[in-house]
Amino acid sequence: MLDKVVLLCLLVHCARTEADLKNSQYVNDLRDTGRINKAPPQKIAIVGGGIGGSAASYFARQLFGNDVTIDLFEPEIICGRVATIQVAGRDYESGGAVIHGKNMYAKEIASTFGLDEAKELDLKTAFFDGKDYILETSTWWIVSMLKMIWTFGLDLLRLNWIETLFLNKFESVYNVQKNGHSFTTVRDLMVALGNETFVNAAEETSCSLFTKKGISQFTIDTLVSGGIRGNYGQTCGVNGFVGLVSMAGIQSNLWSVNGGNKLLCSKLIDHSDVTIIKERVKSVSRDGQAFTVASRKGAVRDYDLVVIATPINRDKSHIDVTAVCSSPSRCPNSVTDPRHYRKTVATFVKGKLNSALFKCESFTDCPGGILTSQNNLFYRSIGFHFPVDFDPAKDTVADGVYKVFSNESLTEEQLEMLFETYTEVAEKVWYAYPFYRPPDQLDSFIINNDGVFYTSPIEWAASAIEMSLISGKNAALMAFNNWFGITENIDSDFGDDETKAEL
Ligand SMILES: *[C@@H]1O[C@H](CO)[C@@H](O)[C@H](O)[C@H]1NC(C)=O
Ligand SMILES: *[C@@H]1O[C@H](CO)[C@@H](O)[C@H](O)[C@H]1NC(C)=O
Repeated sequence: MLDKVVLLCLLVHCARTEADLKNSQYVNDLRDTGRINKAPPQKIAIVGGGIGGSAASYFARQLFGNDVTIDLFEPEIICGRVATIQVAGRDYESGGAVIHGKNMYAKEIASTFGLDEAKELDLKTAFFDGKDYILETSTWWIVSMLKMIWTFGLDLLRLNWIETLFLNKFESVYNVQKNGHSFTTVRDLMVALGNETFVNAAEETSCSLFTKKGISQFTIDTLVSGGIRGNYGQTCGVNGFVGLVSMAGIQSNLWSVNGGNKLLCSKLIDHSDVTIIKERVKSVSRDGQAFTVASRKGAVRDYDLVVIATPINRDKSHIDVTAVCSSPSRCPNSVTDPRHYRKTVATFVKGKLNSALFKCESFTDCPGGILTSQNNLFYRSIGFHFPVDFDPAKDTVADGVYKVFSNESLTEEQLEMLFETYTEVAEKVWYAYPFYRPPDQLDSFIINNDGVFYTSPIEWAASAIEMSLISGKNAALMAFNNWFGITENIDSDFGDDETKAEL
């Protein structure tokens, strides 16, 4: 939507960066200079087969080579919160659904492994207050643009400017990781990318961040909050970094993978040569030099290095790592950590929107995306979605379904209020992303200095597919740099002045 104002990109130098999936240059240079002077680890465990764990598996394989054995523990489905659901015989994205055009790892994985972009039809987006539309876009982008400018005025330019600077700055992560740098804490990573601005953003609310940047209350209440409600199921009380990520997530420069975003994980795993162990991990402990991963089934296995790629949280995974924490006071603990993940119910409905409530007669007349601005509405957003293998040559809009996001399961009365008629309903309950309460903790990626790493703390800066890919790569680099003692690439300051200009 906003991205149609691409003009600004010409003014602020939109950096061109490539995402490096292999790090072969990095490894070869170290080899040539004799820095790799010990044997690689024999066994690595990756705990969790979501995006972060798939990425950690793949990047660990690239960095450590073919001699190391990698076990991936995943008791449920591969790709976790990036999943599809079947409704009336077709598959739809039920979790992490959109990827931004500047998410270079997702893009590079797709192009390396021959994944295409899913096809969709252009639909209108609307901001709805429960009774009336505050704004309804058009399928003609020029009409949409004029309507947006009419409604939001200069805020639209300001927001586009803020987002362009944000994405440009954020993009420096690809070069940093290409050069082999790893970061010990989320804070270190954020400082490396955005100096103090990203850290400060995570410490204040999005309401406050966007206000300070001169965005009006009206635009924050509708555009910014509507996006955050749709993307993160929360208010502008989420941290400012999440708000910046969310605003990128309502632009038009978005895509998803033909066949389902979960193919990102399966491709990474297919090319990682890992053994998948379908067991739930109970604890990690120490056995001399090795780390012992114990599963709930009672099996114990020893590893040189362990990467935990699932959130240790009361709402997510209950893995006991207390026996291996280098810093007991900062040890991830699913029992004592008071923080929560946000419950999100996704309801898939094959049907026709209530024409009286939504003031539209036919499918083509009704908006395909409805973002709400009122916290007391029982639904957060309603979007029309095409199946992941949508083919405009033979499929029609009749193959799409509505996806309603809400705090709780929808009752029959609520469904009947939203839909005039419906033939099929399916539901998926997620603990999808953190419940943000800034200042959010930008914690350590290291559980044990000798070799237990953790990807999930990045979600407290912002939870997104690309963030997990970045964190998976950071974990692999951290394991590598630690193992071979490449200390100059751990938390080093490598100043990239151009990308550190003030936001
Ligand atoms: C980073 O932030 C510090 C303190 O906020 C400031 O002194 C420094 O100039 C900044 N560096 C860059 C490159 O922006
Ligand atoms: C849904 O949860 C959000 C965040 O806790 C809250 O602000 C909102 O009022 C809730 N909505 C309803 C209808 O309960």
